[in-house]
Amino acid sequence: MSYFKYVVCLLFIIACSSVKSQTNDAGIYNEAHRPQIHFSPQKAWMNDPNGLVFYKSTYHLFYQYYPDSTVWGPMHWGHATSKDLVHWQHQPIALYPDSLGYIFSGSAVVDVANTSGFGKNGEVPLVAIFTHHDPKGEKEGKNNFQNQSIAYSLDEGKSWTKYAANPVLKNPGIRDFRDPKVSWYKEGKKWIMTLATLDRITFYSSPNLKEWTKESEFGKEIGAHGGVWECPDLFPLNYKGKKVWALIVNLNPGGPNGGSATQYFVGDFNGKEFKPFATDTRWLDYGPDEYAGVTWSNTGDRKIFLGWMSNWQYGTVVPTKNWRSAMTVPRDLGIEKIGDKFFVTSKPVKELNAIDGKAVTMANIAVTNYDITNKTGKLSGAGRLSISSDKLEPFTITLSNDAGEKVVIGYDKTKNQYFIERTNSGIVSFEKGFAAKHTAPRLSVKENFDLTLIIDNASVELFADDGLSVMTEIFFPNELFSNINIQSANGFTIRSLKYNAMKSIWR
Ligand code: FRU
Repeated sequence: MSYFKYVVCLLFIIACSSVKSQTNDAGIYNEAHRPQIHFSPQKAWMNDPNGLVFYKSTYHLFYQYYPDSTVWGPMHWGHATSKDLVHWQHQPIALYPDSLGYIFSGSAVVDVANTSGFGKNGEVPLVAIFTHHDPKGEKEGKNNFQNQSIAYSLDEGKSWTKYAANPVLKNPGIRDFRDPKVSWYKEGKKWIMTLATLDRITFYSSPNLKEWTKESEFGKEIGAHGGVWECPDLFPLNYKGKKVWALIVNLNPGGPNGGSATQYFVGDFNGKEFKPFATDTRWLDYGPDEYAGVTWSNTGDRKIFLGWMSNWQYGTVVPTKNWRSAMTVPRDLGIEKIGDKFFVTSKPVKELNAIDGKAVTMANIAVTNYDITNKTGKLSGAGRLSISSDKLEPFTITLSNDAGEKVVIGYDKTKNQYFIERTNSGIVSFEKGFAAKHTAPRLSVKENFDLTLIIDNASVELFADDGLSVMTEIFFPNELFSNINIQSANGFTIRSLKYNAMKSIWR
């Protein structure tokens, strides 16, 4: 065979094998309730996103993973990569449990200056910082069974070596001592670890990711404390040229609609202490089904957030068969001021537009009872609905199927609240609190209004008022929702309405 033919043949074989791995996904990703535009593992149990890091044009998503069951168990770090935050390639498991314990949540950084010394031959190390959870110590009733450890990769996250001298941060005797989120603090030329320590955050610093010094504590008397503080994150956002620090603290239970949820604080960080501007409780997402959300590292000024799209109240019993749970869509975080208060906003990343199908648009419609499906045809799968109005009036948007199952999303003017109700959404009996109506305050004080719903087979994400009020909600209808209807008793004038189907990311 000529060299040319040999190369063509080889390219053909490579192309076929990559198509094969994608069609495999398409096959299994057709199961009942399988998200089509959200990341979910091929099989088995997943919870928190971990080690979110962007490196050499690739977004890495590691995640809490138990490959041997569809319920939580000895934790590994599963791994997936993406070039566009939309399509994901499954990768081999990155970190396995070992003699120090399970691999709990944590973060990953690009150690550009090789402060850790793990880099060799000019290869920049990726360093993962995670909690080693020793189940034996836990069973024996000890209070120091969670310790922080590190691992590094010199091949862009493909393989990982755990540091021989782990753990790098020993537990001083605090039962819940976990989920390190590490970032480089430029001004002080040091690493900062934001760690969840039971009922507060403890900040540590390090020159090299190996030796850590305690800097301060935050939050014992501030914010929501209905449960344990977990999975924090600390980063600056830019408000009109002013640096404003956001501190994310996940909480389980004690969320605004029950179970687990993500609160945040806004303030100042000086490399040692975090000082909040206000002490009231704020939620990044008011819905019941965004948890353990944190941001990607190494993305410059852009802050991209991802959460686990479930809730510890029922995450282990949701009615999916071969896998459990998915991630939210990635969201761009921003900051807005209302009066003298800062609020963090979330919006679906613009990269998602790449999977938009043909759009149906309408302008200036006075709605009392309007069946969007008349224009779009029956829905089948994921889609995005965006509406805007110059004046917000009470309304409901109902997603339904021909079996009479529905999810109702809306705005209640007397309470000034958005809501999502899944009481009659299909399979709900697996947990007594699941069939419920959930609410989120409207924070915006503007007359005008905009709303984006990202709808998938088993979830809806609501982003209202430029991402000020956000809710994530999962559901399990017996057939896909195929109708969308908008109603407003008072009449509601919609300036623009756009619906487009979204193409499955697994095909
Ligand atoms: C949050 C969490 C973390 C912990 C991990 C264990 O969902 O409880 O605090 O590291 O899950 O899987």
